[in-house]
Amino acid sequence: MTSTNLNQNLLQRRTKLIGKHSPLFYDEPLQLVKGEDVWVFDQNGKRYLDVYNNVPHVGHCHPHVVKALTDQASTLNTHTRYLHENIVKYAERLTATFDDSLDMAMFTCTGSEANELALRIARYSTGGTGIIVSDFAYHGNTEAVAELGTAFMAEAKATRRVRSIPIPDSYRGIEGVPADQLADAYAEEVRKTIAAFEADGIKVAGILVCPDFANEGLLNVPHGFMEKAVALVREAGGLFIADEVQAGFGRSGKHMWAHQMYDVVPDIVTMGKPMGNGHPLAGIVSRSDLIDPFAEASMYFNTFGGNPVSCAVGMAVLDVLEQEHLLENAITTGQYLSDQLRKLQDKYSLIGEVRSLGMFFGVELVSDRDSKTPAPDAARKIINLMKQKGVLISTIGKHNCILKLRPPMPFQPEHADILISTLDEVFATVNQEYSA
Ligand SMILES: Cc1ncc(COP(=O)(O)O)c(C=O)c1O
Repeated sequence: MTSTNLNQNLLQRRTKLIGKHSPLFYDEPLQLVKGEDVWVFDQNGKRYLDVYNNVPHVGHCHPHVVKALTDQASTLNTHTRYLHENIVKYAERLTATFDDSLDMAMFTCTGSEANELALRIARYSTGGTGIIVSDFAYHGNTEAVAELGTAFMAEAKATRRVRSIPIPDSYRGIEGVPADQLADAYAEEVRKTIAAFEADGIKVAGILVCPDFANEGLLNVPHGFMEKAVALVREAGGLFIADEVQAGFGRSGKHMWAHQMYDVVPDIVTMGKPMGNGHPLAGIVSRSDLIDPFAEASMYFNTFGGNPVSCAVGMAVLDVLEQEHLLENAITTGQYLSDQLRKLQDKYSLIGEVRSLGMFFGVELVSDRDSKTPAPDAARKIINLMKQKGVLISTIGKHNCILKLRPPMPFQPEHADILISTLDEVFATVNQEYSA
């Protein structure tokens, strides 16, 4: 059988058992069998540059992380009902990366569970139920968290306790509002949303957003918006929950946590994905005056969350971030790559805007720069052609027209060069077809 036939066979078996709606990337799905650093390999040994995956944060199969995992897994794995050094050491190291007020940690296995726990704490401690989200957010898959996915989830349609605000987007903005008034205009949407909750007799429990609005398209948030939005929510008695599941662990380069780019400290921070470099490890960090009363009223136990193996892995990820200076690399390589992307923007009219934050990039494709008409077909064609040429990227955003470039953190300028020359070849073939 040829490799295409082999993949088709696997796909058919998968569809039968896992279902046809379980999402897959690419028109011809890819079978990956091995990973190393910023590279992944298919079943034929073909190598792909990974410019998409943030879960293998410190690099695919990093030896230090794998060793920490196997050492602890071959010594003991239990759960948090026994004393163990690892969970305490890890919580100490993790909380030390936050503002002093965020002094306690709780561990889960997924980002969804972390957000679910944050919602429970926020609702318990404020006595409110209303949660404000942005209107193209994804925060996970449990029932209460699905209610937050106002663009994707059936549960969100039926809920009264979640309302969304427009995405705070400096690129597309609000018609008729000058750029320097956008922060106020978007904050006004928060004020109206609070008023709408109150008119329905619903008290606000909080605002829950990803600080870099990653799923929304890695937006350039109008300066001052977050601070104004949080102030309004706090005035109404709610909390600020920062979902750092995608944004955290130094991806933004200048800060360990993306919310640290704003002049406001969250009440609860949730995290996951890169936390265990692929091992299921997630959690929250918050203030003891919120966690203690909640935990007294409502016992929280998670069979796998915070176990000795997970915490050993979590500490190994922090070790590598420090030892390999990966935040610094996100700044320098990130700057290098964003400069190169901007050169492509000068060359190809299809590129409406290039956005970057450390080692995270969004390239918004438009068929016309004046009308900013989204170009999702071009985006789809580009990611498939890039894959054929051995570079993995994907798309995001409300219109699915934003190229999402979010490689493992050890990504180097030499990898950026491969990415840029491949993008250049691909844009040269598609720009004219999709651009006005
Ligand atoms: C911002 C954000 N929050 C939460 C989640 C949910 O995390 P998990 O899939 O680990 O439950 C995701 C997953 O994509 C996410 O992107």
